Amino acid sequence: MESPFKADALKGKVALLTGGASGIGFEISAQFGKHGASIAVMGRRKNALDAAVSALRSLGIPAVGFEGDVRRDEDAKRVVEATVKHFGKLDILVNAAAGNFLVAAEDLSPNGFKTVIDIDAVGTFTMCHEAFKYLKKGGQGRSSSSGGGSILNISSSLHVTAFWYQSHASAAKAAIDSLTRNLALEWGTDYDMRVNGIAPGAIGATAGLRKLMPQEIFNKAIEEWPLDKIGEKWDVAMAALYLASDAGKFINGTTLLVDGGYWLSRPRY
Ligand code: HXC
Repeated sequence: MESPFKADALKGKVALLTGGASGIGFEISAQFGKHGASIAVMGRRKNALDAAVSALRSLGIPAVGFEGDVRRDEDAKRVVEATVKHFGKLDILVNAAAGNFLVAAEDLSPNGFKTVIDIDAVGTFTMCHEAFKYLKKGGQGRSSSSGGGSILNISSSLHVTAFWYQSHASAAKAAIDSLTRNLALEWGTDYDMRVNGIAPGAIGATAGLRKLMPQEIFNKAIEEWPLDKIGEKWDVAMAALYLASDAGKFINGTTLLVDGGYWLSRPRY
């Protein structure tokens, strides 16, 4: 689908995306690139990174990939620094890396809970923390005339109410949304940065949907879904463009639900 945004909406911007090589993260990478940004993607799987970077470059997008795990402080620091070294600065950080699996709380080990918290919530904080000195107003690599950069944290709609077999991921995503508000307050006030989030609902052709919603449940649920459909990765990427571009210049501390209104309903399944 054609973008409603102008092709230069992110012209001259440099974006680093964790989890940017696949799923929703990759769609945001591609749309940011198509709208003028240079793209660095960070991920754990070299094959996925290589494929993403060549796909982006084939669209004429300046792109680079860095292997790394957001759970490792040294990886976060190295990748942020490598991005700035490669492109000269950093304007936008998108935290899209996530780990998840379906498991009943009674079968979830404390280490399983901790693993997802570490990837999603602690990883998001670690990346924000490492990127801060480049994103803040007057930060390293920023021109004196530009304000601060921005951060987008991808969470989910899991914790808006509750979701079966997702106690670990719901807790992690709730922590991310809370972090979004607190960083927006502190870093917006002191450093002219914007920090926002996107909470996607069920989005087609993603690992999340495949893992979390078996086909028979999906077939029943869709009958009562508001808007009568699930979302596309494109929908999330357009929300990201809105929040990261000047269109969203007065939006700070918001997590935008991109779920078609699903959270309003309690489907009868
Ligand atoms: C129960 C599990 C489990 C499972 C792992 N664990 N998989 N427990 N059911 N299916 C437990 C393990 O037993 C272990 O605890 C602990 O978690 C760590 O497991 P490891 O395999 O050592 O961890 P690791 O190799 O780091 O793998 C991380 C992962 C993995 C999260 C478990 O699945 C992963 O990274 N997946 C790829 C990313 C992904 O899933 N992306 C989609 C996100 S979807 P013990 O106690 O045994 O040591 C998303 C969208 C949600 O976030 C919104 C939808 C609406």
